[in-house]
Amino acid sequence: MAIKVTVTDNYDELSNLAAGKVAQLVKSKPGKPGAVLGLPTGSTPLGMYRQLISMYQDGSLSFRDVSTFNLDEYVGLSPDNENSYHFYMQQNFFKHVDIKQHNINIPDSNAADVEAECAEYERKIETAGGIDLMVLGLGNNGHIGFNEPDSHFPARTHKVKLDESTIQANARFFSSIDEVPRFAVTMGIGSIMRCRSIMLLASGKAKAPAVKGALEGPITPALPASALQFHMDVTVILDKDAASLLKSH
Ligand code: F6R
Repeated sequence: MAIKVTVTDNYDELSNLAAGKVAQLVKSKPGKPGAVLGLPTGSTPLGMYRQLISMYQDGSLSFRDVSTFNLDEYVGLSPDNENSYHFYMQQNFFKHVDIKQHNINIPDSNAADVEAECAEYERKIETAGGIDLMVLGLGNNGHIGFNEPDSHFPARTHKVKLDESTIQANARFFSSIDEVPRFAVTMGIGSIMRCRSIMLLASGKAKAPAVKGALEGPITPALPASALQFHMDVTVILDKDAASLLKSH
């Protein structure tokens, strides 16, 4: 199996390892064009972003020539809404490092013609030479990006209706569940599988069943992350709790 699994003692260790892998890739592609990263939002990568920011601050890492493509964005929130993924990325990462704003890509989910915007997003990824490293979080329901259970595996960037379980899980960021958007634009499983390498991060007991399904279960659209078993270069970094149901660890 092409999936390399590392189980860490705690979230800080997970974050340091994840940041180390991103830094290694960025340093391996100096000059123009630099590394192309795929990035997630959510709680899980926050420690990794903090660590990458401190590497930039101590002068050991630069994002000068790095390009990024975010996985997804809600439909109906403006980029300056504090729950939008545009806002999250600026707040938690981009504004603290030397990445160039024109090298940042996040789906414009409010475009008048969303389908054309999705096709354009895929075209931009191709023009950038494809994604070198896609960093992923994992939903409690096994989603990656906003590819919910029963997603079509070959799909590229597209508009999706969010699963009820995702709306509930993400309500913690909003003042009420009614404010959680019902739709999003996400890279598809097909877009994710085209990335040259993938790093999946999961922390906490709530993720343990999805982790087990993704790594040890059958490959099935019912658990979208299980598609990663088909990919040739996947690194999974877990803390003990997220790994607690795995047979092999
Ligand atoms: C976020 C994303 C989602 C999250 C997942 C886990 O851009 O695509 O798939 O990675 O919902 O979220 P957290 O990390 O908040 O548990």
